[in-house]
Formats: sequence, structure tokens, C-alpha cells
Amino acid sequence: MARTPGAADRGPGGAFAGRHVLSMRQYTRQDLELLFHTADRMAALLRRRAVGRPLDGRVLMTAFFEPSTRTRLVHESAMLRLGGAVSGFADPSVTRSGGSTNESDGDIVRMLDSYADVLVVRHPRTGQPAELARQLGEALLINAGDGTGEHPTQAMVDLYTLRRRFGSVDGLRVLVVNDLRMRCVNSLLLGLRLYDCEVFLDGGDLLELLPKVDVLYSSPTVSVPREAGPEQPPRPVAIDRRLLERHAGERLAVLHPLPRGGELATDVDDTPFNAYWEQAAHGVAVRMALLKLMFEA
Ligand code: CP
Repeated sequence: MARTPGAADRGPGGAFAGRHVLSMRQYTRQDLELLFHTADRMAALLRRRAVGRPLDGRVLMTAFFEPSTRTRLVHESAMLRLGGAVSGFADPSVTRSGGSTNESDGDIVRMLDSYADVLVVRHPRTGQPAELARQLGEALLINAGDGTGEHPTQAMVDLYTLRRRFGSVDGLRVLVVNDLRMRCVNSLLLGLRLYDCEVFLDGGDLLELLPKVDVLYSSPTVSVPREAGPEQPPRPVAIDRRLLERHAGERLAVLHPLPRGGELATDVDDTPFNAYWEQAAHGVAVRMALLKLMFEA
């Protein structure tokens, strides 16, 4: 049975139970609050080393057609911490995808459908994870980033980080800078729309905006080869300690999904503005919560 989002099904797993995770458009604010409460619980259980093995017997498989450091490994970490098993590939060159066989993504994913309960798929082609999800029978699929489309689980982590740092996403003033075409930005903006917050795009008026905002979110400016996205020349903003100490408000939090390039200096790491390491660390509890809810009847 294909699992597509849409129909109402509000068991303990809410909108996540038995559903693919393809886009932030699937979720309401209540859905995200369920996820974040579950992540809080997961984080507390992790601290006490008391998670148990709620996903014992479940298998997660990663299918990464594009490189990743965090997203692949954090999903594996989350599944292992829940007592499940993990396998998969980090590079399609180790599959029959390329070379003389040139096996289609569809055929590869059809195989994995029988091997795993949940597939975590990153793909350079926008919309490809959603397309592949339509070909699945039983396995669920998590979009781990598709071209210039979306990166929904990154946005879940970003919003959770804001909630943990500030107590609520409501009322925040968020400035998003650097490459606004990035999929992490697309998903973040979809998520922020669910909250009563003010969003400023682009750092054109950076020095005017910095003292007024609570959050400075920078997308990566590292170049990732992808199909051409919408034309929009990035206006690079370089964030460093001197800039923040001179112009930022005291409680400003700098978020960045990483990997960073020259847009975020390492001298910010040891300042109170740095929220990006905690953002990366929250990735574990949020993915644990997501996986747990997906398998909740
Ligand atoms: N944030 C993020 O998506 O990082 P990776 O590309 O390393 O997965």
C-alpha cells in the first residue's frame, strides 16, 4: 500500500504515523508540537540512557545519491539509539546505479522496499524522493534533501532548536541570509509560516537588521553541483565575531545547517551567539522522535 500524506489519521503517531516525510507542507503546527514534545522526551531518555529498544526489529536503510555528513549519519544514529538496525549506501557508485548497468533509481528503491522498513533518501534531482515514494509498497521514505526542493527534517531540527533556545518560536524575528535558494531555506520558511514570527530575507540591510533580530540563519554557500535552480544571485554575508559583537543584540542566536564555508567564521564558535552546534546535536533527538512517531500505530 503506498503511503502518501493527506488522509486524517490521528493515533499516537499523529500525522507522522505510517506516512512518508517528503515536505514541510505536510505538517500543521500541532503536528510539529507533537514531534517536539516527543523529541524532548527522547532527549531526556538519552540523558538517562533509558531509551530502551522501541524500534527493535525495524530496519532503516539510507540511499544517498548525493554526499552528506550529518543527515545520513544522524538518521543512522537515531535508529540505532532506538534499538533498530541500519544499512544502506552513502554513494550510488557502490550500487548498479552507474557504470554499464545504469540501474534506475526506481528499480533500486523497489529492492530496498523489501529490505527495510524506512528509507532515508537524498537525491540531487528535485522531487525525486517523492517520485520514488510512489513506487514503494510497505516501506516509508524520508526525504533527506532533494535538489533545490526541500530538506524537511533539517527544518524540524531548526525549529526545535529555536524552541529550545527561546522557549517558543512565536514572537521571534528571524533574518535568513546567504543562498536563499537552498532546500534547507525552503523547508525552514514553510515551517516558520506556522508560527507567529517575523521573517526577513536577505542581508542587504544587515547592519540595520542585526540589532533587531533574535535569529540569524545562514544557509551554506558551499557549491553543491545540482540541476539549475531558479536564478537568484546570492548576496553573500560573512558572519564573524567582530560583526556580531559590534552589531548584534545580546540574545542573537546564529543558526546554520552546516557544512559551513567562508560565510561563517570559526571565531563565532566560542561566543554565546553560536547556536549551530546545539542545532546539530538536537538532530539526534528530533530524528529519534520522528522515527518513533512514524512507527506508532
Ligand atoms: N545539514 C545537512 O544537510 O548536512 P549534510 O549535507 O552533511 O547532510
